Amino acid sequence: MKKRVLKKGRFYVPTKDSKNESWISDEKIYGEAAKDPIKFWEKLAEEGISWKEKWKKGYEQKGEFFKWFLGGKLNICYNALDRHLYRLGDNKAIIWVPEKEDEKERIYTYKELWKEVNKFANVLKQKGIKKGDVVCIYLPLIPEVIISMLACARIGAIHSIVFSGFSSDALKVRVLDGEAKLLITADGYYRKGEKEKLLQRAEEGIKETKLKRTIVINRFDKKRALKKGQEWYDELLLKAGEYCEPETMESNEPLFILYTSGTTGKPKGVIHESGGYSVQAMYTTKWNFNLKEGEIIWCTADIGWVTGHTYLCYGPLLNGFTTLMYEGIPNYPNPGRFWKIINKYKVSAFYTAPTALRMFILWGDKWVPKKMDSLKILGSVGEPIDEVTWKWYFKKIGKGNLPVIDTWWQTETGTNVINSLPGVGPFMPGIAGRSLPGTKYGVVSETGRILKKGKGLLVQFPPFSPAMLRGVWKNEKKYKETYFKLNGKKVDYYITGDAAVLYPNGFIKILGRSDDVIKVAGHRLSTAELEHAIHKSKSIGDVAVVSRPDKIKGEEIVVFAMPKKKLESRKEERIRKEITSLVNTQIGPIARPKEIYFVEDLPKTRSGKIMRRILKSLLRDEELGELSTIVNKECIDEIKIKIKEGFKR
Ligand code: WT7
Repeated sequence: MKKRVLKKGRFYVPTKDSKNESWISDEKIYGEAAKDPIKFWEKLAEEGISWKEKWKKGYEQKGEFFKWFLGGKLNICYNALDRHLYRLGDNKAIIWVPEKEDEKERIYTYKELWKEVNKFANVLKQKGIKKGDVVCIYLPLIPEVIISMLACARIGAIHSIVFSGFSSDALKVRVLDGEAKLLITADGYYRKGEKEKLLQRAEEGIKETKLKRTIVINRFDKKRALKKGQEWYDELLLKAGEYCEPETMESNEPLFILYTSGTTGKPKGVIHESGGYSVQAMYTTKWNFNLKEGEIIWCTADIGWVTGHTYLCYGPLLNGFTTLMYEGIPNYPNPGRFWKIINKYKVSAFYTAPTALRMFILWGDKWVPKKMDSLKILGSVGEPIDEVTWKWYFKKIGKGNLPVIDTWWQTETGTNVINSLPGVGPFMPGIAGRSLPGTKYGVVSETGRILKKGKGLLVQFPPFSPAMLRGVWKNEKKYKETYFKLNGKKVDYYITGDAAVLYPNGFIKILGRSDDVIKVAGHRLSTAELEHAIHKSKSIGDVAVVSRPDKIKGEEIVVFAMPKKKLESRKEERIRKEITSLVNTQIGPIARPKEIYFVEDLPKTRSGKIMRRILKSLLRDEELGELSTIVNKECIDEIKIKIKEGFKR
């Protein structure tokens, strides 16, 4: 077996062999890109993407707003499909693995995928969808989700995907905010071996919106009777025209919106555009996973998150790689399922979240096969990867011979932006790596002073990378305030919301969110959004949601609720159930609180703001720090006792 990494002190570095087969193997690229980042990206755009018309200007920035490849014309669907047809038409584009083991996989070659996307694009047009319209996609991991995305992109419609695990209320909020014209959903999907119905949830979600048309994909054996405004996808395809001319898009015209949680109650529609996103999605996939045409990447993320958008769909297809998607959960029918899939289909690059890995550790090594020879690169994403998990990944899955890349990024950055490149290294737990060539991340102090090294708030300096968000849907103010304002003052760097340590050599250690955003099993949740949901209970006066570290999920949700009246213990249980169900119906099961405490009072400042910082420290058994701003210190002792008594459900 080829040796791919070597131990060097506390790090691992790529071997000569490994460098030889890497797209990037010389660290000089960092310095060269930094000299003129705009030129650096322009060169990649020129080489990697087929443009209908070349851009007039590489980059332009006005305050918080910036554009890339101005005046450049392209279509991302054309780049992901059409241009590969001649050479790679018979290569596999998608391998779809259903959860049920006795069901056959479905494979789409580039040609087949192109055909279906063209037809579906024609269907969308026929339904009145035009360039700039928003189409909401509420689909599980089935090939039609990629077909839908590409069909939208082909006609210039903006897709807005809602995670299929989200509740009908969460769907409603997103349909309303995006003013979506059409919904694409399915009758259901398989999860843990059970049928999960989706169409009812979808119907419920759009009931109070203006959206009147739904296209339904048939996943189950039997078709149910459809209601007014609903049509079957397969039946529409039968009648659709074969070819659809790709719409010409200016580089900065929107490609998709994707809602994500922030520090306020309402999710934000992050806007990504066509040109810069294409360039960066293409090159990060190539560089991070070191693949060649025909090789397979498996990103285990759901398409409902940005990771799925970029590394299940656009990144692999722009490169002519094969993307593998698996419908189900990691331990169905047993915890060996993932590894069986890797060996069966000969996956080269595997990209998953630390939470999943920690589950595998718990399930035991006996499920991991001795050999997984096809693997070349292991990636981690979504939350910090702790040392134990990193080492297990490296030893058990990588057999001590594969680079493990810890990739930091966010919905807003569009692609991964801080990580070690597999042909350059180094690889070690705890350090994500350097900023992607052509981007510059660093840290600033709490007051906004730029630091040369040490701990601070993680920020990006201009020129902002091509795949960065360009706005928040219908909310310019939120865009400016969330990303470009610190302590109420405008800054000229982009604020990520994370804290990090910068080392003098440019390496970055991610510490986690510095704001009120929680990461539960890699899912981004807002404390404000959860509190907003819980406030709907008539029995609750005030409520604070904070996180507590968790061995498997990274973080867990803890609720501190102040009942309006003192509760008897019997009633407590009822209200706990009510709170859980409120969260379930308004967000979804991923946001289920782990612990719910009823307290008489919550620590507050003079102006009445709840001090979540104190609650967080109490849960972590940390020093409480400065207490002088609290007006009701007495409540701390009560809360301490409640936490100590613990929580029984
Ligand atoms: C937040 C973004 C990354 C795309 C999927 C999640 C955290 C992400 C890492 C990492 C430590 C990480 C950050 C970030 N995060 N990757 N490798 N190490 N933390 O996108 O839902 O927008 O979440 O995930 O806190 O801000 P997202």
